[in-house]
Amino acid sequence: MQFFIDTANLDEIREAQSLGVLDGVTTNPSLIAKEVKPLTYEAFRDHIKKICEMVHGPVSAEVTTLKANEMIVEGEALAEIHENVVVKCPLTVDGIKAIKALSAKGIRTNATLIFSPNQALLAAKAGATYVSPFVGRLDDVSTDGMLLIEQIVTIFRNFEIPTQVLAASIRHPVHVVECSLLGADVATIPFKVIEQLAKHPLTDIGLQKFMDDAKALREKVVKA
Ligand code: G3P
Repeated sequence: MQFFIDTANLDEIREAQSLGVLDGVTTNPSLIAKEVKPLTYEAFRDHIKKICEMVHGPVSAEVTTLKANEMIVEGEALAEIHENVVVKCPLTVDGIKAIKALSAKGIRTNATLIFSPNQALLAAKAGATYVSPFVGRLDDVSTDGMLLIEQIVTIFRNFEIPTQVLAASIRHPVHVVECSLLGADVATIPFKVIEQLAKHPLTDIGLQKFMDDAKALREKVVKA
């Protein structure tokens, strides 16, 4: 399963990149607004370019318009920023039309704000490169977000649909385990959760015991 980081924070991207396990980045207008101040379109474009130059993988940049024809124009302009850009469109009727048009132009797309299997199927039929089902936001309203992942993965496998399932709205390490067990292609993970993935209290306890028992060796190593 590919790991993307879900942030527009350059320090978080840099730190995650240093682990050597980062495959891409997703942003959205809220994540951008947290980092780009003052928020101007030029500054947004520059910020996406900076991210693309940091990460050698797909970088999702979301359109900020709502009408299909506007999304298409904006999406083409976003795609021109850098070859790593993937254009994110919301799964609305206009978003589907924009995904169809952008995909036909060879522009990679990420259908976002997906909360049902039908939305994912429509996006795939329109040629979306990725679909982004939001797991955490479904959990937040007492709905099983992971069931949506299972349904979409099953449907895509039934028909050998090439669109990739990009699990989003990931809130904790168990979401990452469950997405990988279900066969999601990608999980886009907040930095805080990426940090948690490596941690286990028994690792810490075991390492402390090893270090204590090998104290004599370590003193020699340190002296040498
Ligand atoms: O990319 C979508 C993701 O940022 C949404 O996450 O935690 O705001 O539901 P969250």
